[in-house]
Amino acid sequence: VAIRRVDYTAPAWLVPTTRLEFTLDPSATRVIATLSVTRNGDHRDPLKLDGAGQRPLSIMVDGVAVNDWHFEGEQLVIPLSGDAHVVETEVEIAPDRNTQLMGLYASGGNLCTQCEAEGFRRITYFPDRPDVLSRYSVRMTADKARFPVLLANGDPVAQGDLADGRHWAEWNDPFPKPSYLFAIVAGDLAVNSGSFTTMSGREVSLGIWVRKAELAKTDHALEALALSMAWDEATYGREYDLDVFNIVAVDDFNFGAMENKGLNIFNSRYILADPDTATDYDYDAIAAVVAHEYFHNWSGNRITCRDWFQLSLKEGFTVYRDQGFSADQGSRAVKRIEDVRGLRASQFPEDSGPLAHPVRPESYQEISNFYTATIYNKGAELIRMMAAILGPKNFRAGTDLYFDRFDGTAATCEDFVASMEEASGIDLTQFRLWYSQAGTPRLSASLSHDPAARRATLTLAQHVPATPGQPDKAPMVLPLAIKLFGADTGTALIDERLVLLDGPGETIRFEGIDERPVLSINRGFSAPVVVESDRSAADLAFLSAHDDDPFARYEAMQQLMLETLVASASTGRAEHDGVIAAVARTLEDPDLDPAFIAEAVMLPSESFIGDQTRIVDPDAIFRARDGLRRDLGTQLERQWRQAHARAGSAPFAYTPEGKGLRRLRSVALAYIMASDAPDAAELALAQFEGADNMTDRQGALTALVSSTAAQRDTALDRFYARYSSNPLVLDKWFQTQAQSSRDDTGTVVAALARHPDFTLTNPNRARALIGAFAANQRAFHAIDGSGYRFLADHLIALDRLNPQTAAKLLPPLGRWRRFDAKRAGLMRAELERILHTPGLSRDMVEQSSKSLEG
Ligand code: ARG
Ligand code: ZN
Repeated sequence: VAIRRVDYTAPAWLVPTTRLEFTLDPSATRVIATLSVTRNGDHRDPLKLDGAGQRPLSIMVDGVAVNDWHFEGEQLVIPLSGDAHVVETEVEIAPDRNTQLMGLYASGGNLCTQCEAEGFRRITYFPDRPDVLSRYSVRMTADKARFPVLLANGDPVAQGDLADGRHWAEWNDPFPKPSYLFAIVAGDLAVNSGSFTTMSGREVSLGIWVRKAELAKTDHALEALALSMAWDEATYGREYDLDVFNIVAVDDFNFGAMENKGLNIFNSRYILADPDTATDYDYDAIAAVVAHEYFHNWSGNRITCRDWFQLSLKEGFTVYRDQGFSADQGSRAVKRIEDVRGLRASQFPEDSGPLAHPVRPESYQEISNFYTATIYNKGAELIRMMAAILGPKNFRAGTDLYFDRFDGTAATCEDFVASMEEASGIDLTQFRLWYSQAGTPRLSASLSHDPAARRATLTLAQHVPATPGQPDKAPMVLPLAIKLFGADTGTALIDERLVLLDGPGETIRFEGIDERPVLSINRGFSAPVVVESDRSAADLAFLSAHDDDPFARYEAMQQLMLETLVASASTGRAEHDGVIAAVARTLEDPDLDPAFIAEAVMLPSESFIGDQTRIVDPDAIFRARDGLRRDLGTQLERQWRQAHARAGSAPFAYTPEGKGLRRLRSVALAYIMASDAPDAAELALAQFEGADNMTDRQGALTALVSSTAAQRDTALDRFYARYSSNPLVLDKWFQTQAQSSRDDTGTVVAALARHPDFTLTNPNRARALIGAFAANQRAFHAIDGSGYRFLADHLIALDRLNPQTAAKLLPPLGRWRRFDAKRAGLMRAELERILHTPGLSRDMVEQSSKSLEG
């Protein structure tokens, strides 16, 4: 059954205060909840409390046991006569049998919680909806030897020992919050502590809590936290508001991390780092996720969401904020390129497939399925477009107004947009379509030049494709940053300008243009659209060498590569000279940052190439890409060796310069491998063996894993031997093999699924093998259907343990419309098999049924 946005009604009962008493035990935890409840206005409904899985052991109203309650579905309904009561319930739950990892669960012997979106109801009975804000006080009692550390939201109040080897702790959170932000942790943990002085001079104590053996891997996260706190003050004027800020890392976690008030809980992969075990990419991701969760304290916690349809209010905005933070820590240009690549890899396919939904959805069956790239990453692009349309001053005035006006409330996307309008005086009526219309707009752009009239004419047209439930779309507002360059001189012919295309089409004239102009459009990826332009290969090559916007320069190269690859995949004929010349020029440009070069010379992924074609031919795409890779490797071998050597042997340092050189080094190594030079595998193994850091080691392993050379197995075996006791690094071992382009990848992955270290109970491990395999276009789409069967088998098994994580891995099967009839039929058959599995979760029913229909 779908829950619809238009059906929203305010809660009938409010819960000003909540008292929770936990008697913690892995197999039988008792929870006593004491809620003060007050009638909201003139609502007449009885009190309805959400629950899931548990049974009430006792229910009391105003201190008296009652039995006139009943269930409506899983809701506990208690009739109440007056307007204010105290309701107390007691339940028993079993964290050690909680394989869904929602609610209170066990991970590595410790106990922790995950409540967003609807996990709190698995802990106790409560109006588990984000617009019921309550002040929580929590008491935990537990065995002291087993659970020496007891943490909860807010500030610590008191603690003490009990006679029987148990102890207790009390925490109090002064800020009213929705239940999804509730958290406790009990465990044997060590802390890396720091402190931060806020802009008004308050001292905050910071703690990163992990297992004792991992303490040495927490400095990077702690530094990132302090940097985030300072950045949010400087950039948005947002100050932290409690005396403590704790982060706990756990190994078993359904996604990245969670912004629980004052007690963030993280997937350990986004906390633990040292040079031997974490890549530069991991370091970057840790800082980004630490920042993201910290920023939620204002964009999410102080102002939360009225209902889950507003999820992008906090997620889109917070992603935009963390992207800004990361951009300020290193290269703004490279960060933008990475973010756009991510958007195109995950959000564009979603937006053009059966699971497409607006940034503010109209309905859902299971909210967990809506923690998507559309809500998060497209949502962030919406904020970015508003920031561009308003300009920095107005945008900051808008966020100030929003934070000020809605502090302490559960708000809507509309509240955010209205704040932007009010602060800037700019009308965003049409812009709101970005929230309601799904689908990636397609923009066509064509530039003509009349030298006699000294005029250039730009013709723009937009089209928003149909998506499930939305056959007809209105034109959107597309903010397009545009510039023209002279084809002969390479100089700018006009200053960059922001064109707001708001109709189906528009013609723009530029006067006084003598030289033939080359169009640079959607600079900085100012609008999240697909641009179809009629620029020639020569003009793209020109832009890849001369554009002064780094993103546009990268984009021109990507476009050039893409056109070459799409042509050779469909015709089988390869014309590589243009790309090779452009790559050579980029490699030899002394003014370019190595990190940028590494991005620019990387070929588009197989799946991104597939996204540009109507019917994806995975084998032809692989051959085309492999052929271009080989030609680039062979013809530019000298340059790749130079770039590889340039990274030098300086000892590891996590600095922008060091990162850039390492990135270029591994990209160059991959091209040397593609050249089939006789010493290539030896060179890769030497990088693998000689590395003093995981970036170089993993880069070498990735370069080797698609090869048939003996060094491949040597490296894999040594990697396993060295890291088999480190789960996060072992994930890389599984993942790298699942990404291999060797012909035997399907068989290798099937064998890895039976490896003693493989398990479906740990989401990171499941994603590392199954998720990575399903993203390996050629292997997953093997024409015999073995990839589809493998995925479906494992999703069915995983669904019994952890529906959320299973449902997240399903979308690759929903892409069937983009494949030939044979593959489409096989994919549909697996979706049908999943859908008809007895006892399938609501999560999987929604994903698989929509994937079949859409
Ligand atoms: N709010 C968390 C974050 O973005 C993620 C929560 C994900 N919840 C879910 N049910 N998938 O930081
Ligand atoms: Zn978030």
